[in-house]
Amino acid sequence: MDRKHIIDDPQTCNKAEAFEAFDDIPANPSLSRTIGDVIAARYGRRDMLKGLLGVSASAALFGASALTAPRQAAAVGAQSSSRYAFDELTWGNDETHHVADGYEADILLRWGDPVTADAPEFDVMNQSAEAQLQQFGYNNDYVGFTPLNADGSRGLLCVNHEYTNEEVMFPGLGRQDKADFAGMTKALVDIEMAAHGGSVVEIARNAHGKWSVVRDGGMNRRITPLNTAMSLDGPAAGHPRLQTSEDPSGTEVIGTLNNCAGGMTPWGTWLMAEENFHGYFWTDKLDANGKPDLSAQPEAAQMQRYGAPGRWYAWGKYYDRFNIDKEPNELNRFGWVVEVDPRNPQAKPVKHTALGRFRHEGAETTTSRDGHLVVYMGDDARFDYQYKYVSAGTVSQDSAANAKLLSEGTLYVARFDQDGSVHWLPLVHGQGPLTAENGFASQADVLIDARLAADALGATPMDRPEDAQPRGDGTAYIMLTNNSRRGEDQLDAANPRAQSSFGHIIEIKEDSGDHAATRGTWSILVKCGDPQLTEVGAQWNPETSENGWFGSPDNCAFDADGRLWVSTDQGSKWGKTGKSDGLYGMETEGSLRGHSKLFFRCPVGGELCGPYFAPDGETLFLAVQHPGTDGTKDLKGFERASTFEDPATRWPDFDPQMPPRPSVVVVTRKGGGKIAV
Ligand code: FEO
Ligand code: CA
Ligand code: CA
Repeated sequence: MDRKHIIDDPQTCNKAEAFEAFDDIPANPSLSRTIGDVIAARYGRRDMLKGLLGVSASAALFGASALTAPRQAAAVGAQSSSRYAFDELTWGNDETHHVADGYEADILLRWGDPVTADAPEFDVMNQSAEAQLQQFGYNNDYVGFTPLNADGSRGLLCVNHEYTNEEVMFPGLGRQDKADFAGMTKALVDIEMAAHGGSVVEIARNAHGKWSVVRDGGMNRRITPLNTAMSLDGPAAGHPRLQTSEDPSGTEVIGTLNNCAGGMTPWGTWLMAEENFHGYFWTDKLDANGKPDLSAQPEAAQMQRYGAPGRWYAWGKYYDRFNIDKEPNELNRFGWVVEVDPRNPQAKPVKHTALGRFRHEGAETTTSRDGHLVVYMGDDARFDYQYKYVSAGTVSQDSAANAKLLSEGTLYVARFDQDGSVHWLPLVHGQGPLTAENGFASQADVLIDARLAADALGATPMDRPEDAQPRGDGTAYIMLTNNSRRGEDQLDAANPRAQSSFGHIIEIKEDSGDHAATRGTWSILVKCGDPQLTEVGAQWNPETSENGWFGSPDNCAFDADGRLWVSTDQGSKWGKTGKSDGLYGMETEGSLRGHSKLFFRCPVGGELCGPYFAPDGETLFLAVQHPGTDGTKDLKGFERASTFEDPATRWPDFDPQMPPRPSVVVVTRKGGGKIAV
């Protein structure tokens, strides 16, 4: 069958790349800009005032002479010493991981490792859903840690398992979404479902500073889309659009999926962001071009705006709830932020509709000056938006009161103006265009169709907002990973490059240093890529070496000293840099602002997720996702897509019988002490 609706680009050799390449969003009328806007955006006055105009932009503005001595031409300010005390790694790409000298990077948890006390040992040739439900899931993404004792030597690791790559998970299968799922069975689908979701795992540090899993930890648990009951709460809970034949109440859902980045709340709960949920929904009705025929769907416009159904997995062949022909409302029950109490294995996870429905990348929290909870959240798609949520109540010592903070509050979407101001526009029914005559009959409609509400408000279409990290002082950093489909006529000040392959990072300073402010200012911290290539238009602090130039920022975190760290996911663009993905210390202050240093490198084909620093700053948790898959067609000497039998690396086991395994890595300093201090 012709399946053109799934990305069928020969350049995409695995599911991770196909996810990234997928884009079926209709043209957004707010994307057009005048040529004056384009010029101002591309070589903006604000960049020049800040003294951070990149080498390539300088060359374009000031002529070819700038190219003859780019490092000297770009030199600005006096050099000060890096705040990141380590010797940077040399960039490269090989079968294993690397960390800066003086540090240990140990494998803590691998796909298949036992999580619960009675879990069987992993047997890759005899996988079952029953075993996988008790073992560590696939494609670890977000990692959070919450201590269980005063010195932080015991704690709970909270890990998202975003998706599965059948071609390197199962022997003899190959990639199924390009083969009409001919090799899939219900048993394999059930294993995939059991490998999605999340894991709570107790870990402990011994007297030598080494971390290990506590196998009989009483709070260890798996959360999956196969069998974990959860509730819906907030303004959309119970709405008819959330009701299904299995759940006429519209308040109970089985499971969560495609949990990408996330966050921890000040009261120790874990937020799992549901990202590419549209990819899991199925239809049997295809048009002549092999695309979903939504003509009989009452919510066809909403489905199209969310790119659903994606038909990336065969779950809908075996489960009616993932088939929109049979249960169209199930689609509306995914795309939310899920809250889990890791300390209480009996507590039902909650999907909070107050935080809106979109392709949630992350959900990093902070508090406003007067104690309201603020959550920054990206919608990771080309030309989609940056959001934040501000709770109605304030954070306190009262856990019952805190439990309501994600149920009542205001969701905002960002408009980045040319003058350097950012305006947070409230998604509130009855305000502005969000009225019944425009298709929003209630606040439930506004939240279920948050993308459409944000369109109506005139939010700024961004270059794929991934993770966003608030610092607590009114400053936040937004990772914009790339957008190769932005045209010259679609540029704006906050998204200043056409066909942006390498992405950029925006810094927001909220008014009065208050994360709840509805206005602030913004600036571009770095434009990523190789600054030696004029056409790339990269912009780094000129003291950055080529080891520090990266592409496609994705996840980010602050350490215990308020320093920013950024990890990357180049996807199919891996071959454009030849560099593995990694973790970089990114200066945000002083004369080294925009300076980047490479600290950790992934094995070939892996993207780097996490990162998360333990509160004492002495332990760093990293998640290496899909090792051996991204960009392997461009790997010299390999030049093909990885399979179970023939992967580009067998990291981390290097056992000829074992495929590569997504794993959590724990980084500590040799001899102890804080990282990079
Ligand atoms: Fe799952 Fe947007 O990365
Ligand atoms: Ca991500
Ligand atoms: Ca983060």
